[in-house]
Amino acid sequence: MGLGNQRLAINGVFHATDPRDPVARSIEALGRQALAELPAPLAALPRDEVPLHAFDMVGLPALRALFEPEIVPRQARRQTVPATPDAPALDRLADELAAAGRGLIMVMGKGGVGKTTIAAALAVGLVQRGHSVHLSTTDPAAHLAVTVAGELPDLQVDRIDPKEETQRYIDKVMASRSSDLDAQGQALLREDLRSPCTEEVAVFHAFSRIVSEGRSAFVVLDTASTGHSLLLMDAAGAYHRQIMREFPTGTAGRVVTPLMRLQDPAYTRILIVTLPEVTPVSQAAALQEDLRRARIEPYAWVINKSIGAAGTHDALLAARLDGERRQMERVAAHLATRIYVVPWLTEPPIGLAELSKLTASAPG
Ligand SMILES: Nc1ncnc2c1ncn2[C@@H]1O[C@H](COP(=O)(O)OP(=O)(O)OP(=O)(O)O)[C@@H](O)[C@H]1O
Ligand SMILES: [Mg+2]
Repeated sequence: MGLGNQRLAINGVFHATDPRDPVARSIEALGRQALAELPAPLAALPRDEVPLHAFDMVGLPALRALFEPEIVPRQARRQTVPATPDAPALDRLADELAAAGRGLIMVMGKGGVGKTTIAAALAVGLVQRGHSVHLSTTDPAAHLAVTVAGELPDLQVDRIDPKEETQRYIDKVMASRSSDLDAQGQALLREDLRSPCTEEVAVFHAFSRIVSEGRSAFVVLDTASTGHSLLLMDAAGAYHRQIMREFPTGTAGRVVTPLMRLQDPAYTRILIVTLPEVTPVSQAAALQEDLRRARIEPYAWVINKSIGAAGTHDALLAARLDGERRQMERVAAHLATRIYVVPWLTEPPIGLAELSKLTASAPG
């Protein structure tokens, strides 16, 4: 577009203050790797780096401090004891979910908070508790789910691919109508099906199919971005209203739409995943409100990448624990009825071995 005057600002760059601390080391290493792999057009831009600070960027003094060199608050240097929140971990959530015996578990949340990781870990945990599980994702980049595909006989992994679903849907419609249409009619129908609505309908069909599988087994559904999942919810709502209108009163009582299944707490358990930071928690709260407007009540919140639960001796990270604790309290006091905490993991939670650890029963 000819907008050439660009700079790259990299925010929240973290340098370990205690390089012996494994959590600090792993966070720094991830950042370094991301910067090393910067796409060439970005790497060529003039660059500013803003260090990670110990406090949330809310309020004037905090914003002023952005322009100061990296500061570690003095009290933080003394705070070396990790804060371990007493919320249960993912093994307990897996136990509780397993007790239901079947149903739909839907993992939702903003981008990058760990939805795919949590969904895959719970699917593995349920299999290891003796259940057979279908792990399905709408995330186009769910490489992680693929890392457990084919690893366990009782774990089926797949992805709702909009393109494939659309083709399958078109083929189905064409096949069912071809006998009562002449060549021209078929061409018209095919033309009709080329509309963008077809994809929406096709994806909703796939979604409904997966939702209904929860009747007899466990289905763990990893969702893509919040926006996309809410679109599915909207589709479910619209479909529900249409069905209720079309069925004469009296008979509608026997119809079960996907929305009704999502609203049924005995059938569907929705997990909201968030990071213990102010903006992600606000976004998760907004998601919860959207769900409640559709009369869907989330089952639990999963707070992922908790530094407090991991424990750290790094002064800067330890200083940030205050903020983390405030967010935990906020979620507990105002937002969630059940909370599970997943620590920041120094080993990337990828592949069967690492994911199994997340739901393995705690010793003792
Ligand atoms: N507890 C954790 N500790 C350390 N790294 C984690 C943790 N949970 C997830 N990750 C890493 O964070 C990244 C994002 O996780 P994931 O892909 O599960 O998020 P997502 O919510 O599915 O993202 P998207 O919105 O893009 O689908 C991945 O690299 C994952 O390995
Ligand atoms: Mg994902």
